[in-house]
Amino acid sequence: MLYIVTVIVIVSLLEQTYAVPCSGQQISVCECIDTLVDCENLNLTTVPSNIPITTTKLGLSNNHISTIAEHAFVDLVSLESINLFDNALSSLPAELFSSNINLKIITLQGNNLSSLPAQLFSSNTNLEVINLFKNALKFGGLVFLKHKPGVYKFGFQYFKQFTTRIVFVEHQASDYVKIFFNNALSSLPADLFSSNINLESINLGSNVLSSLPPELFSSNTKLRTINLFDNALSSLPAELFSSNINLKFITLQGNNLSSLPAQLFSSNTNLEVINLFNNALSSLPADLFSSNINLESINLGSNILSSLPPELFSSNTKLRTINLFNNSLSSLPAELFSSNINLKVIFLNSNVLTTISANIFGSLTNISDLNVENNPLVCCDLKDFIEWLDLQTKLTEFSGQCTYLANDTDIRDFNTSECIIPESCKHGDTNKRSDGEWKIPRKWKKKPSPLIFELKSSMK
Ligand SMILES: *[C@@H]1O[C@H](CO)[C@@H](O)[C@H](O)[C@H]1NC(C)=O
Ligand SMILES: *[C@@H]1O[C@H](CO)[C@@H](O)[C@H](O)[C@H]1NC(C)=O
Ligand SMILES: *[C@@H]1O[C@H](CO)[C@@H](O)[C@H](O)[C@H]1NC(C)=O
Ligand SMILES: *[C@@H]1O[C@H](CO)[C@@H](O)[C@H](O)[C@H]1NC(C)=O
Ligand SMILES: *[C@@H]1O[C@H](CO)[C@@H](O)[C@H](O)[C@H]1NC(C)=O
Ligand SMILES: *[C@@H]1O[C@H](CO)[C@@H](O)[C@H](O)[C@H]1NC(C)=O
Ligand SMILES: *[C@@H]1O[C@H](CO)[C@@H](O)[C@H](O)[C@H]1NC(C)=O
Repeated sequence: MLYIVTVIVIVSLLEQTYAVPCSGQQISVCECIDTLVDCENLNLTTVPSNIPITTTKLGLSNNHISTIAEHAFVDLVSLESINLFDNALSSLPAELFSSNINLKIITLQGNNLSSLPAQLFSSNTNLEVINLFKNALKFGGLVFLKHKPGVYKFGFQYFKQFTTRIVFVEHQASDYVKIFFNNALSSLPADLFSSNINLESINLGSNVLSSLPPELFSSNTKLRTINLFDNALSSLPAELFSSNINLKFITLQGNNLSSLPAQLFSSNTNLEVINLFNNALSSLPADLFSSNINLESINLGSNILSSLPPELFSSNTKLRTINLFNNSLSSLPAELFSSNINLKVIFLNSNVLTTISANIFGSLTNISDLNVENNPLVCCDLKDFIEWLDLQTKLTEFSGQCTYLANDTDIRDFNTSECIIPESCKHGDTNKRSDGEWKIPRKWKKKPSPLIFELKSSMK
């Protein structure tokens, strides 16, 4: 009895997963697995006829298909996913997917499409993902967003995890951005996205946009991600993001922004990440981030900021990362980070700081990474900062040097209480010990040269 049951179970498992050649002329080269039809990697030059009408997933990737007849998929009303990845398609018929009303995923990556018919996805109101990476499109997919309220995500399922810099870091290739987004858009109509009320993500990166209409995103209240990476924006309208209360990520990296309106982010209470890396910002409004109480990461690196308003980050108690790398900061306001109790990572490297005062931080912090490299820091002016450093229990990654007697020294190796000659006049006398001797840096004491050592020994 047990034996029979076991056999039945095994047989039914096999039935569910066993691939068999599909039946019918042409299609017999493909394998059918339940309602999945696998015609991948077969050197096909055309779509085979007789695809079963019950097919839900159709795989045609890695073939040499260069043209597809308009009616090729006309019977496939159950089709949910079609994969045409890596073929040789340079055009598609306008009605190709018009019967496939259940389609959710269309993959056209790695073809040679230079344009798409405007009506191509007009019947596919259930579409969730269109992947058009690595084609030769000149005008991206924006046209479809405008005409097709059903096409909400438009390939962003793939991009959700690729916000901001990760595109570059993990994929190096700007290819992802460039091929998909590298268009020549210099301006956009104000109502481009006005019917796409469910849109969650808009990526306009790598275009040549120099300005944006104030109402561009005003209907898109569900937006979570806006990417305007690598354009030529030199200013933004104050109300640009004012309707986007669900926005979590804004990327404005690689533009030419020299200033920002104080109200720019004032409606975006759910914002978690703002990336303004590599712009031309020379100053910031004091209350720029004051509404963004959920902000976790601010990237202001590679701008030309020479000073910061003292209260700039005072509302952002959830902040974990602040990047101020490669600016022109010569000093930092007192208490700059004192509200940011969750701060973990701070980049201050490549500025022109001569000193860093401990009073910019809280006394005990959660900071784990702090980089102050490549600043003209004066060792003997870092007394309270070094004392603060010694109190930090979670600071595992610290790097920074300071200058003492024209030598660069690791800040952590330097003993300020022993400054031998004042580096700056204002601290002059405090660097003399009470007995009138100049103080000596700790580093020198730890590793005395043989000469000094002999001298000391002979004095005993
Ligand atoms: C496809 O063509 C290549 C090169 O001609 C050949 O090596 C390969 O075996 C072919 N694949 C099939 C499934 O016929
Ligand atoms: C891509 O299509 C263009 C015409 O649109 C053609 O000139 C070119 O040879 C095609 N490239 C490939 C790799 O098929
Ligand atoms: C950046 O903006 C300034 C004006 O603010 C303009 O003079 C300059 O040409 C712009 N640079 C680029 C690369 O667009
Ligand atoms: C530093 O910022 C300037 C613009 O202020 C930029 O031209 C330069 O490429 C940046 N350097 C790095 C290493 O990012
Ligand atoms: C560090 O972070 C924890 C968790 O968010 C927080 O409760 C704590 O107050 C922070 N510690 C300090 C010293 O600010
Ligand atoms: C450090 O500075 C002292 C005094 O100016 C100088 O004699 C010495 O050569 C310097 N050491 C290094 C490694 O540059
Ligand atoms: C710093 O120098 C002072 C005075 O010479 C000395 O008492 C102290 O132990 C030194 N600190 C460290 C950490 O070496």
